[in-house]
Amino acid sequence: MSLKFEQRVRSRMLGAFAAAALFVSTGFVESTPAYAKTDAQPAVLTASAVAVADKYAADTAEQIFKQGGNAVDAAVAIAFTLAVTYPEAGNIGGGGFMTLYVDHRPYFLDYRERAPLTATKNMYLDDKGEVIKGMSLYGHRAVGVPGTVAGMWEAQKRFGKLKWKQVLAPSIKYAQDGFEVDDQLQERRDAASKEFAGKTNFDLYFGGMKQGAVFKQPDLAATLQRIADGGAKGFYEGQTAQLIAESMRGHGLITERDLKEYKAVWRQPILASWNGYRIITAPPPSSGGIGLVQLLKMKADLKDKFDNVPLDSAQYIHLVAEIEKRVFADRAQYLGDPDFYKVPVAQLTNDDYILKRAQEVNPDTPSDTKSVLPGLGTSMPEKAETTHYSVVDKWGNAVSNTYTINGYFGSGVVAEGTGIVLNDEMDDFSSKPGVANMFGVVGSDANAIAPRKRPLSSMTPTILTKDDKVAMVIGTPGGSRIFTSIFQVISNVYDFRMPLPEAVGATRFHHQLLPPNTIFQEPYHKLDPEVVKALEDKGYKFTMQDFNGDIQAIRIDDTTPEPMADPRGRGVARVIR
Ligand code: DON
Repeated sequence: MSLKFEQRVRSRMLGAFAAAALFVSTGFVESTPAYAKTDAQPAVLTASAVAVADKYAADTAEQIFKQGGNAVDAAVAIAFTLAVTYPEAGNIGGGGFMTLYVDHRPYFLDYRERAPLTATKNMYLDDKGEVIKGMSLYGHRAVGVPGTVAGMWEAQKRFGKLKWKQVLAPSIKYAQDGFEVDDQLQERRDAASKEFAGKTNFDLYFGGMKQGAVFKQPDLAATLQRIADGGAKGFYEGQTAQLIAESMRGHGLITERDLKEYKAVWRQPILASWNGYRIITAPPPSSGGIGLVQLLKMKADLKDKFDNVPLDSAQYIHLVAEIEKRVFADRAQYLGDPDFYKVPVAQLTNDDYILKRAQEVNPDTPSDTKSVLPGLGTSMPEKAETTHYSVVDKWGNAVSNTYTINGYFGSGVVAEGTGIVLNDEMDDFSSKPGVANMFGVVGSDANAIAPRKRPLSSMTPTILTKDDKVAMVIGTPGGSRIFTSIFQVISNVYDFRMPLPEAVGATRFHHQLLPPNTIFQEPYHKLDPEVVKALEDKGYKFTMQDFNGDIQAIRIDDTTPEPMADPRGRGVARVIR
């Protein structure tokens, strides 16, 4: 079964929004369950399923499942395929997070990019201490050390059933033989081409892309082949590493040593109980899991205020904006890479703390933005394009993976001779305290640049379980909109009891403390003008944003998986028997 939707948002996000070198565990390494490699377990679901960003990735997943692969094999094969067929966001030149549920146990893999060894706190500031516009967004200096290949290698080695080469094979074929270019990809390429003109070598690689025509990437095929042959070393050492370092020389900071020292990290996922479900989601260096848990629990704490308030009514939007204000105040103050900064995770997800924050919500009028302070006090040490996919296999394992090169086509730099589009993830650091990044969010010293440090993310790959069985797998791109979008879909499904397709298709809106009392709405589903007027009368302002996520979700009803790809994108939902 394949669900494909015509309606799409054809726009580019940028225009809209304005250490531990070794395998550091944060205390949650569990041994690999034996069955993951043996296939001894009987199926517990009627089928496997995926919700992914394009049809090629769905075909790849189908091929992997037919070869006997599990959800992790499929997830890794999808990542490499999207690096070829969804080059605006799919990548091997970026990084991300993978939340897994394997043999009834939760895991989280952090393969976020790291700042290069010679990065410095003020590297994007001029002599006067002002942020140099665009420097963390375009070109070689915007690039963080990529983590995707290390992440995929770690995940597949630990939990996969197939051979590494088998999961690389579909991507190599798409790079070598080509794939047909979709109209949405073409539009994004055209926009990127304008944006990077005169700044990067983007057109050298993507200039020939034409809607409806087959696009081949021989350099990328050769790079993927080296990764297939050499594993992670095929990227982080040898010819690929040399080519990346060579393309950086004289322009950017990444060296062969940076690449060789890169490591992915298994971390303790955020675990929380909510509404009879267990939420398994992203810990720091993502802000998303903490944000999602705070949003869901604050909403539950305010049950009497939300009761009988219809979705998308002025009162609903006001109440959600009020809780979002509190979440973003905490995000700006306390969150950063936990290997560099002690993030108060337990305090920020503590039920009593969240209740206290919920009680600060003003049910009638917007709280004055300046009065909404970080909730733990400031005595704590003051120190956009992405894609998500969700996978379940018939054995009941699940993978929720979000990975990114940040803006569409990342920094616009293609490492010469490799076909690898390099990220602009350095923009997710706080270049200067209080100065907003591409997504309009600010940060403190917790998210200042330092060598080897990972920039703060909002990516929130999430799994919900009930009675130790997967109930939902969900995630989305969207920068700081990520966890507010996921929150709205989860709330639509479980609080408003909407069927999954409606819950994903419903209007989404966003508020993030700054700019003050500003609600972002989306062209896909505009808010009712009367609702807008009622909120304007309360003091809110409205801004149209071009992009509000591309949710890829799977809901499991007892033993039947129901995948759903966001109608806002070119994603595909497929049940695979
Ligand atoms: O890690 C983050 O939060 C951002 N770099 C994600 C960027 C993103 O979602 C762009 N997608 N549309």
